[in-house]
Amino acid sequence: MTILDTRNRPLRDLRISVTDRCNFRCSYCMPKSVFGADHAFLPKTELLTFEEIARLAGLFRALGVEKIRLTGGEPTLRKDLDVLVRMLAGIPDLDLTLTTNGSTLDALARPLAAAGLRRVTVSLDSLDDAVFGKMNDVSFPVARVLAGIDGAGAAGLTPLKINCVVRRSVNLDSVIPLAERFRGSPHVLRFIEFMDVGTTNGWRLDDVVPAGELAAMIGARWPIEPAERHYPGEVAERWRYRDGRGEIGFISSVTRAFCGACTRARLSADGRLYLCLFGVRGIDLRAPLRSGASDADLTALISTAWRARDDRYSELRGAATEGLPRVEMSFIGG
Ligand code: GTP
Ligand code: 5AD
Ligand code: SF4
Ligand code: SF4
Repeated sequence: MTILDTRNRPLRDLRISVTDRCNFRCSYCMPKSVFGADHAFLPKTELLTFEEIARLAGLFRALGVEKIRLTGGEPTLRKDLDVLVRMLAGIPDLDLTLTTNGSTLDALARPLAAAGLRRVTVSLDSLDDAVFGKMNDVSFPVARVLAGIDGAGAAGLTPLKINCVVRRSVNLDSVIPLAERFRGSPHVLRFIEFMDVGTTNGWRLDDVVPAGELAAMIGARWPIEPAERHYPGEVAERWRYRDGRGEIGFISSVTRAFCGACTRARLSADGRLYLCLFGVRGIDLRAPLRSGASDADLTALISTAWRARDDRYSELRGAATEGLPRVEMSFIGG
């Protein structure tokens, strides 16, 4: 089944946040000034249970969702995540994947792969401990993320995608070393423009490095050429090294918005459905779930919301959207 929104975009991807907690405090996502020691995260009773998540996932599949990505916060902090993965892996014809900071993958990649996870994306913003420590703000060492990447590779989750958020004032000098490290490996490194998501990350346009600038910088060192998108609506623009040593990607939601083909919905850890990364309010699915709604009731709620969807924040960005309240990225998983 396919349902279309008001801009004729089908519902194809669902990003499910399984926890709002994270062991990192990336300045661009969960700055310590806001997510301090006394920050109140969701109590366990407010999180969707695995059964609730799996039930919703099945309904989303029936509405046309072909890819489910588990996110957080840091999804691997959710206890027994492999149990959820096993439940979701039982849904037919579903691409099941995970976005993680890699900190726990060394130990968890095997059980997750054994439970049916197919792919993972790991965030890594620098190979330099001082710079990476500044980005994650908990002095987390690069070596442990690299061990996680190796662990995932050894568990058969290759090729991986590696995400690097670039801030001009912090890690621009990390771009070339990262490219060099993953050139010639099966993994695909992607650079993400620093986004004005949420309201707490101190976003400034002059801290965004446009994808075009990064492509020129990398291309001057190792010539690159554009490659076709894998599927309509893919967020990353693909480029390949002309010497055949693999590919890289750019996610340029600030300078080249890709809302026109956006097929993504997001489910927050407490069961709200968001129709855009910059969504203002989610649609509560948990209350009906917990008060005995039937599959037909829940399906109707989801499809009615999607059919009315008009969001295209990144394309509008600027005057039209200034001052509107926004959800935090750590809450709906990027
Ligand atoms: P694959 O193509 O399957 O690898 O997935 P993906 O690229 O959607 O997953 P990933 O979690 O790696 O997403 C990369 C990053 O792109 C996200 O973390 C966000 O920073 C950004 N992004 C993903 N989806 C959206 C979106 O819908 N809107 C905007 N503005 N940015 C997005
Ligand atoms: N801008 C761009 N990317 C971000 N991410 C988190 N916050 C931001 C932001 N403000 C990225 C993470 C991770 C993915 C889920 O989203 O680094 O790779
Ligand atoms: Fe945690 Fe990822 Fe946010 Fe960093 S970007 S604070 S690792 S959820
Ligand atoms: Fe989709 Fe909203 Fe991102 Fe545009 S800003 S690509 S509509 S999630």
